[in-house]
Amino acid sequence: MKRDFLNLSDAGSHGVAAILNDALDLKSARKNKPKGAVDDDKSLAHHALAMIFEKNSTRTRASFDMGIKQLGGSSMIMDAGSMQLGRGETIADTARVLSRYVDAIMLRTNDHDKVQSLAHHASVPVINGLTDLSHPCQMCADMLTIIEYGKALSGLNIAWFGDGNNVANSLIEAAGLMKFNLKLALPTGFDPNQEFVRQARNRGAQIDIIRDPLLAAKDADIIMTDTWVSMGQDGGDAIISKMMPYQVNEAIMSAAKDDALFMHCLPAHAEEEATQSVLDSGQAVIFDQAENRLHAQKSILRWCFGLI
Ligand code: CP
Ligand code: NVA
Repeated sequence: MKRDFLNLSDAGSHGVAAILNDALDLKSARKNKPKGAVDDDKSLAHHALAMIFEKNSTRTRASFDMGIKQLGGSSMIMDAGSMQLGRGETIADTARVLSRYVDAIMLRTNDHDKVQSLAHHASVPVINGLTDLSHPCQMCADMLTIIEYGKALSGLNIAWFGDGNNVANSLIEAAGLMKFNLKLALPTGFDPNQEFVRQARNRGAQIDIIRDPLLAAKDADIIMTDTWVSMGQDGGDAIISKMMPYQVNEAIMSAAKDDALFMHCLPAHAEEEATQSVLDSGQAVIFDQAENRLHAQKSILRWCFGLI
């Protein structure tokens, strides 16, 4: 059966652990190599990836593109608006057609149903490159970064601030699979997907939704946030004023453990979800996270092709 990667649960705890271990190995194997050099084992030689973007991207687009090339394969990047998809061709037919040209398809879309439909109708693996519901690829890079900083996932205390968005939902899923504790400090009305929360709790994770940001930050190993207004959402001053108490600032960082890491998937909006001084601080590992998108995507691709 083909392996789609629509959410972390598709890989399960075992698959996610395999992706993280593989990414660590791949990263260390190519230390000091130029970024354009192909990995020694060319493990995805002759494999082609199509990427469809309905929304903007820098990291996801560049890291998948370089990632499959480093594995010896090739990629094509398509803007949904300039495809027939943008003129009403169905996702089902797009899936059937692209499956005749490429070995895997990645989709970034507003509507999670679309990535599910693409996976249903494609005969090749489909990867979720971000939807309104989740961002599992980001979470693999984030867990990789945490491990690299010497922190074991199991039993870790992570605190999330701001919007219960797609990245937060994947973080909740990760908590259930990898057994870390998660406190989400969110204003009323911005809670995450309740089904993700229920599943993570069923898997034994401690997930707390907290309205007091300092309480959520207390003794945290990791402080994490993301934009207050995700792509495709309406912003405005009303949201900013509701979110401002959840800004990650020096008071929040001081409440966390002394060696806490500050994480953000980027792009960041300084002085909104985090102050410039937190973004610039020695505790911020945001560019390590961005780099690790590359290493994690490669292992996600290798998992989809059954190599790990
Ligand atoms: N973090 C992330 O997914 O970045 P892009 O939107 O630039 O791909
Ligand atoms: N939550 C953000 C993540 C961007 C990578 C968004 O969906 O816009």
